[in-house]
Amino acid sequence: MKKMFALLLAVVLVLALSACAAKQPAGKLTMATEATFPPYEYYEGDKIVGIDVEIAQIIAEKLGMELEVTDIAFDSILPGVQTGKYDIGMAGMTVTDERMEQVNFSESYATGVQVVIVKDGSAITSVDDLFADGANNTIGTQTGTTGFLYATWDIEDEGLGTVKAFAKTTDAVEALKNGQVDCVILDNEPAKALVAANEGLSILDSEYAVEDYAIAISKDNTELMEKVNGALVELIKDGSVQKVLDKYIGK
Ligand code: ARG
Repeated sequence: MKKMFALLLAVVLVLALSACAAKQPAGKLTMATEATFPPYEYYEGDKIVGIDVEIAQIIAEKLGMELEVTDIAFDSILPGVQTGKYDIGMAGMTVTDERMEQVNFSESYATGVQVVIVKDGSAITSVDDLFADGANNTIGTQTGTTGFLYATWDIEDEGLGTVKAFAKTTDAVEALKNGQVDCVILDNEPAKALVAANEGLSILDSEYAVEDYAIAISKDNTELMEKVNGALVELIKDGSVQKVLDKYIGK
């Protein structure tokens, strides 16, 4: 009988302890991203890594929160943040006026430049060729990105070509290799990484547009915005953000 009691006590103790352990982290910080965007977010095996993930990680650590990263379609990130499905959207996301109507943005933590990728030997040799009289190119972009918007406004709407949108940056690059599109408009660092990973592609010298990347948070969640932005600003000041950028981008 005594033994029985001891066993029961042990079971109760174990249960109580595990209930405690499960409650451990002060809170979860859920992040939505689209992980075909090296070096900002990409897969290493089945893990999502990169600049955005590491910056989010050090922000979460500062706030005593546990980071959880989810890979979704790029154009689902802002709706997901707006509806509160995810706390933050971090995806090499450019701050634009249109997006600022949907969500709030943190301080900017990085700069992006829209560039143009072509096949080696392409008839397109500069960005200006895309806007030349009588131009008629098929432009590859990622759905919902600024590259897609610029190409639509500046090229398709002007009757200078057609824009094709792909769910993943890697699909757009595949389409370029197969000749389904004549070029791809993409942010410079992912462009460099994708050109390095695929033979026979190059980036045109001229730049298309310079942009700021920031973290998107719901307009309803000003408390989280203050916390996240406060942590980010400190991590920019003390050089931690630059350290992450240098690790992936180098000099
Ligand atoms: N900077 C561009 C934009 O905000 C492209 C971002 C794409 N990001 C990604 N993780 N696929 O529209």
